[in-house]
Amino acid sequence: MATADIRRIDLVEVAPRDGLQSIAEPVSTEEKIALIAGLLDAGVRRMEIGSFVSPKAVPQMADMREVVAGLGERWTDGLAVLIPNAKGAEIAVEAGCRALVFVLSVSETHNLRNVRRTVGESLDQLRAIAAVMARTPGIALRVDLATAFDCPFDGSVPEARVREVFEATRSIVPRAEFALCDTTGRADPFRVRALFAGLIAADPTVRWAFHGHDTFGMGVANAFAAYDAGVRVIDGSTAGLGGCPFAPGASGNTATEDLVYAFARGGIETGIDMTRLLAVSDRIAALPGGRTGGHLRTVPRDRVTLVR
Ligand code: COA
Ligand code: ZN
Repeated sequence: MATADIRRIDLVEVAPRDGLQSIAEPVSTEEKIALIAGLLDAGVRRMEIGSFVSPKAVPQMADMREVVAGLGERWTDGLAVLIPNAKGAEIAVEAGCRALVFVLSVSETHNLRNVRRTVGESLDQLRAIAAVMARTPGIALRVDLATAFDCPFDGSVPEARVREVFEATRSIVPRAEFALCDTTGRADPFRVRALFAGLIAADPTVRWAFHGHDTFGMGVANAFAAYDAGVRVIDGSTAGLGGCPFAPGASGNTATEDLVYAFARGGIETGIDMTRLLAVSDRIAALPGGRTGGHLRTVPRDRVTLVR
């Protein structure tokens, strides 16, 4: 239920996926594993650790199998991988992954640029993924509805179109978690709240998540708007690292540390240790070629207090 627990949210860490994919220079497998381990040690329970995509499309993710294998005993079911097609699902399941995030865009043009398929063809891929899941019990699926507010090529995305694509995916995988993704960071809190409120009113049983980018400085406000509408799963990227290589003009996700701070100030639990998180944030910010953002990393550490 979207409104289950009001004092707690699940922050989904996406720096190892949405963040690292934006860095052209290769980051070593060891460094990726160290970052993921550091985030787990900071108390992160859910994380996208990378993606099984074409290595030609995103060379940074070419070592995904090694990252999964290298986590060894650190592996938990809260670790998810993004997949753009059924082939990705097959490779991920074979590698031992049990949490998949399928991405398709609400906007036709972004879907074509991102995964080189029409939305209809991506829905066919989702049907094939459902078949993979039927063969392998115990797999959790999330559907990321990218460009749910704005498309870098077509502009503002109509609400009716969001509902249409959501319903099409839901008819294939009714028990999945669904995320509205503000891929370009151009959503505003009023729109985020209104869109989620309408969808939740239409059916309060759907498990919703919000994936936001901070390009226009609206990241934390948008996350609060989603929370206010009843969403309890919110994505963040430590150090604000990121930006989809297939969404020109978009910068990084809302910084996880900014979200932890904002929600903690209201007594809303995330389970994340700020001191440890900021240590990982510094490490991420030191990666050559990364574009970072967020505020908490740059304020004096002794001024970061989570209680009022
Ligand atoms: N994982 C690894 N390799 C994959 C793959 C996957 N999920 N899907 C396809 N491939 C490989 C194929 O085996 C093929 O390899 P080959 O050239 O050695 O034979 C090659 O990629 C092309 O396959 P094809 O099915 O023709 O794909 P395409 O070239 O039309 O590209 C996608 C489609 C979806 C695979 C590609 O656009 C992609 O990976 N996009 C991901 C974009 C992304 O990560 N965006 C950011 C996150 S939202
Ligand atoms: Zn994103």
